[in-house]
Amino acid sequence: MASPLLPLFLFLAAAAANPAAAAACFSSIFSFGDSISDTGNYLISCGATPDPVGHPPYGETFFHRPTGRCSDGRLIVDFLAQALGLPLVPPYLSGETSPEGANFAVAGCTALDNEFFRSLGLEISGSNYSLGVQMEWFRQLLPSICSSYSECRNLMANSLFLVGEIGGNDYCHSLLQGRAVEEVKAFVPDVISAISSAITELIRLGARTLVVPGGVTLGCLPIFLDHFRSNDAGDYEPETGCLKFLNRFSEHHNEMLLHELNQIRQENPDATIIYADYYNAMVAIFRNPQRYGFRSPLLACCGGGGEYNYNASAVCGDEAAAAGTVTACRDPAEHVNWDGVHFTEAGYRAVTSELLGRWTEPSVAQICPQIDANFSQGIHAPI
Ligand SMILES: *[C@@H]1O[C@H](CO)[C@@H](O)[C@H](O)[C@H]1NC(C)=O
Ligand SMILES: *[C@@H]1O[C@H](CO)[C@@H](O)[C@H](O)[C@H]1NC(C)=O
Repeated sequence: MASPLLPLFLFLAAAAANPAAAAACFSSIFSFGDSISDTGNYLISCGATPDPVGHPPYGETFFHRPTGRCSDGRLIVDFLAQALGLPLVPPYLSGETSPEGANFAVAGCTALDNEFFRSLGLEISGSNYSLGVQMEWFRQLLPSICSSYSECRNLMANSLFLVGEIGGNDYCHSLLQGRAVEEVKAFVPDVISAISSAITELIRLGARTLVVPGGVTLGCLPIFLDHFRSNDAGDYEPETGCLKFLNRFSEHHNEMLLHELNQIRQENPDATIIYADYYNAMVAIFRNPQRYGFRSPLLACCGGGGEYNYNASAVCGDEAAAAGTVTACRDPAEHVNWDGVHFTEAGYRAVTSELLGRWTEPSVAQICPQIDANFSQGIHAPI
């Protein structure tokens, strides 16, 4: 018969080896979203079809190969996993998922289904995955990682759910296809309602702790700064150089999301819904880039030229263009933006620092005091 002391001994041994592991607040992470948190699903879904994200220099800084992450290295979801003492969350489509977690996020993914956009006369190319599809994947996965009702309830209760960022693509595709901002604003409530349904279903299945990120600083992305170039200095925020109308749009989405989260909190007092304010964490960085060692926060590291180094006809990782106009900067750690749309690993590290510091509500550090504020220290890149 096993000694009852054995688990305690193992616990202490683990504590000595890895302080974060001993204190793990959660047994696993399940993540939903788009390219901001996709750790490989989109690239796997491309199969043999070539895609820029499958080519160098994607992944060059940390993984030393393209992994499907839309960056040179780790994402917020990776840093969060490390801060919580958990393994990096494997993409669902890799089939390597376990009770320790799964990442359902897909680059290009929208909150709303493709039919919704088709009804507006919009074609969402690049991805036919929506939050609804990701939820369906989760329902399919669940019976394979827990077997009884109580085991599944325990798994849900001990897991952290990252629901978002999602919705950014719903707006980006529409705006880039020439829809007026007022028209796009009109379907913000639909996006919020899709996010709300996912959260509510997860809670019904037993989720107790959910992190729900708001939208990002769309007005600071090189893709939009390039697309909506203006000669009117009044169109730009003086402190950051970002486009006012797009950042106001993100703020509008976030206000509606927060309002909805408060509603869900009232109806589900047993669940902890943490709002992760990606927007203000990013604004803090764009207002004070030197603090994080960034030089040109609005200039993409990897791109095909132009004022913001974003060129829609020569994007990062496009091999044909790479021979000509596409270049990657020598020090991605000095850039916030990686490819015109997504952040560098250094950018995401700074965002995670800001988030863990002051931009979660309620504070993640209070809910999980063991969280490792030095999350990116002492972790060596895989060879
Ligand atoms: C998405 O499109 C691909 C190719 O057109 C297809 O194979 C796949 O089944 C679609 N996925 C969904 C979820 O509709
Ligand atoms: C954008 O890329 C195209 C195709 O490579 C190239 O012809 C064009 O000069 C580039 N634009 C800028 C501003 O560098």
